[in-house]
Amino acid sequence: MSNKTITVIGSINMDLVTSTNRVPNMGETVLGESFHTIPGGKGANQAVAAAKLGAVTTMIGCVGDDAFGQELVKHLQNQGVNTDYVKPVTHRSTGIASITLSDGDNNIIVVPGANYQVTPDIVSSYEEVISKSDILLLQLEIPIESVERAVELAKKHQVMVILNPAPIQALSKSLLQKVDYITPNEHEQQFLLESEEWSDSERKEMLKKCIITMGAKGVKFYRDGERNIPSFKVETVDTTGAGDSFNGALAFALSNGEQLEEACRFANAVAALSVTKLGAQSGMPTLKEVQTFLQKQQRDE
Ligand code: RIB
Repeated sequence: MSNKTITVIGSINMDLVTSTNRVPNMGETVLGESFHTIPGGKGANQAVAAAKLGAVTTMIGCVGDDAFGQELVKHLQNQGVNTDYVKPVTHRSTGIASITLSDGDNNIIVVPGANYQVTPDIVSSYEEVISKSDILLLQLEIPIESVERAVELAKKHQVMVILNPAPIQALSKSLLQKVDYITPNEHEQQFLLESEEWSDSERKEMLKKCIITMGAKGVKFYRDGERNIPSFKVETVDTTGAGDSFNGALAFALSNGEQLEEACRFANAVAALSVTKLGAQSGMPTLKEVQTFLQKQQRDE
């Protein structure tokens, strides 16, 4: 696989991760098991996933002019992500995500902070970066107008766009019609398809672009009928960022010319490896690690 260029425009968060045996009800206090601050943010996670696999990866985003911001930029650089277009902004603190891990699952509250300073104008100022990308990868933790601007610019320069619609919100028809691939989970897909704006044929067209992630059940997409690509069984430590690993890996595989089915199998392997360690990014594998994992799976089949 050669080194293709992937640009990610999105969020950069510090994850404040608490593990607890029991999630408290509102008004209740419980004693937790552990607490960690770990780099995260859907955009940054996807960028790190792609970079670790070997893609030339550029991140466009904003952090606050604070300690978390500095730490996160340094961390991205250490992971091989180009941060030349990550801007520190004043008046807003770096985005954080308060994450509770319990019973093999998680819940997350994101406070976007500086991520909401990624304005359409900032996106436009990086048109050249976007135009030179093989793939533009987007999520929904920055203002929607900025996502829309990024998609317009990518299309102007015939750059493939993958949109991970998370966290879900109402999206315009024109945005969804412009992107090449949409990667919702089951709940997000249902939300998107429920929109009354769509005619039956438009809904069908939109569904063709969807690669639906279903956690342990694998992924599905529609090409001459429904295609299911199963997930890989692993010892799960933390599922945070599994979807992001999938997206970063999907972008990597597609940018290298893999067919959708093979790209999804590869991305499933990356997502599986990513959940074997604590934190969104810690378990993200290198290309060599994925290849070894896939060879072992083949031998065991
Ligand atoms: O997808 C997981 C990510 O969502 C976390 O890293 C957190 O920062 C939130 O953005």
